[in-house]
Amino acid sequence: MARSVSTGDLWWKNAVIYCVDVETYFDSDGDGVGDLVGLTKRIDYLAELGVTCLWLMPFYPTPDRDDGYDVTDLFGVDSRLGTHGDLVELVRAADDRGIRVIADLVVNHTSAQHPWFKAARRSKDNPYRDYYVWRSDPPPDTSDKVVFPDKEDGIWSYDERTGEWYLHHFFSHQPDLNFANPAVREHIAKSLGFWLQLGLAGFRVDAVPFLIADVDTAADDVPGDPHAYLKALRSFLGRRRGDAILLGEVNLPHKEQRAYFGGSDGDELTMMFDFIGMEALYLSLAREDARPLAKALKARPKIHPDCQWATFVRNHDELTLDKLSESERQEVFAAFGPEPSMQLYGRGLKRRVPPMMGGDPRRVRMIYSLLFSLPGTPTLYYGEEIGMGEDLEAEGRMAVRTPMQWEPTRNGGFSTAPPRRLIQRMVPDGYGPEHVNVADQKRDPDSLWNFMRTLVQTYRECPELGWGEFTVLAQPHREVLAHRCHWEGSSVVAVHNLSAQPASTQLAMDPGDLAADEPVWLEDLIAHEALEVGTDGTVELALDGYAHRWLRVRQGTP
Ligand code: NOJ
Repeated sequence: MARSVSTGDLWWKNAVIYCVDVETYFDSDGDGVGDLVGLTKRIDYLAELGVTCLWLMPFYPTPDRDDGYDVTDLFGVDSRLGTHGDLVELVRAADDRGIRVIADLVVNHTSAQHPWFKAARRSKDNPYRDYYVWRSDPPPDTSDKVVFPDKEDGIWSYDERTGEWYLHHFFSHQPDLNFANPAVREHIAKSLGFWLQLGLAGFRVDAVPFLIADVDTAADDVPGDPHAYLKALRSFLGRRRGDAILLGEVNLPHKEQRAYFGGSDGDELTMMFDFIGMEALYLSLAREDARPLAKALKARPKIHPDCQWATFVRNHDELTLDKLSESERQEVFAAFGPEPSMQLYGRGLKRRVPPMMGGDPRRVRMIYSLLFSLPGTPTLYYGEEIGMGEDLEAEGRMAVRTPMQWEPTRNGGFSTAPPRRLIQRMVPDGYGPEHVNVADQKRDPDSLWNFMRTLVQTYRECPELGWGEFTVLAQPHREVLAHRCHWEGSSVVAVHNLSAQPASTQLAMDPGDLAADEPVWLEDLIAHEALEVGTDGTVELALDGYAHRWLRVRQGTP
């Protein structure tokens, strides 16, 4: 069947995803903590920006020792954030504006406070013992496997009560669930089904590689193949809601990522974050050389046409650079986070984009223009649309999880609570709400917010970017990335200058674009001007420092 964008069946192919931490977005009742009712009040804001998919970070009951990624009830809503009723109202309001809602699915582990783990620790023969992974002999040195090297020294912790060690890939207060246990898998499926029934359109699946790591010891229905579990989960999802997605966090080399998409069958994760591309982007930015990024994009494995890459330049964690070599990582650190206070776990940065770019609006806009024009589905982390900064004094990743800045008033309009009662303090420096906020930027036609809105809308008008075939175009400047996305007879060419120096470049049109009898020209989709293509099939482009151009190939007379 011919694909038609208007059917929207594969809505994730050109969605605009927006990630929100409910507790820091908008506080509707003045207790200092953002809530679901508050977020619902901001749905029109998200619709105005052009968001089509809202990703909620964990909203489940939690002792909050890993910002909600430590869950005590897979079926619950954290009472500080609201109720199931509030969640359903949010989903309904979003649906009304054409926005789908997905949520973090955190099932690699639970909180150590989860009733299952509490029961499991009671005795070795407790029925819940097998919900977790235990060993009776002392573990070997696993210090090289820990995710948080400043907090943990191994992935097994000793349980005094029962005299055995339990597995935890993350914090020791996050014991890993045992996926080899069919009862665990049953609970997970039930929880998925539960949230789908309440209206969610899918899940951002946390820590996928860790999750399936232990499945190979699993029971009959997933014999020996960890990926069979993901296939089973996807097929369950499809049975319950045909258009629901699994957007996976899989920070692995390309070859393995392809397997998590289900290879050529495309029957595992629907989407996956492009970590490799994101890391290469920062190397390119640091060097002012587009080649690392171009190389990473060209090396993306071929995926099933129904699957998709989620592109991003910032998420809620440390900006990880773990897939770069040590010397490459040091180059990025030197360029964008030279102080130890800006770095985390030796592998990442705890900064947001504008401060990293020295506040240069041309460079910041060029980066977001790249985000929206690279092949894939762009994902924004709340606050990026107004260029929020970070709080370097906040512990670890909390530096980039500060409250949303709505107005230039007390608490940035996030909450009416006294500042000392806020879940987290506002960004205190020149990026604070007096300087960076939604209200001011919405009124200013030249603001980042309005630029971002243009990008969102232009992206939505260019299905080639989400659906098309990607090629890097040859041109002489290493500072410049010129790429083309082609889909159903239509092409968009994007050109970005990663350097502060102006460049003048010549691009050759694709022979396919020139094949028609009519003249070919380029329509600049952001600057709204027409560019002539010479009779030799090339176009001359004068690029300012940090320039960004989006050009649609057109036929006929401008
Ligand atoms: C990945 C999440 O993005 C991160 O915030 C969390 O700490 C770990 N998974 C553990 O759930």
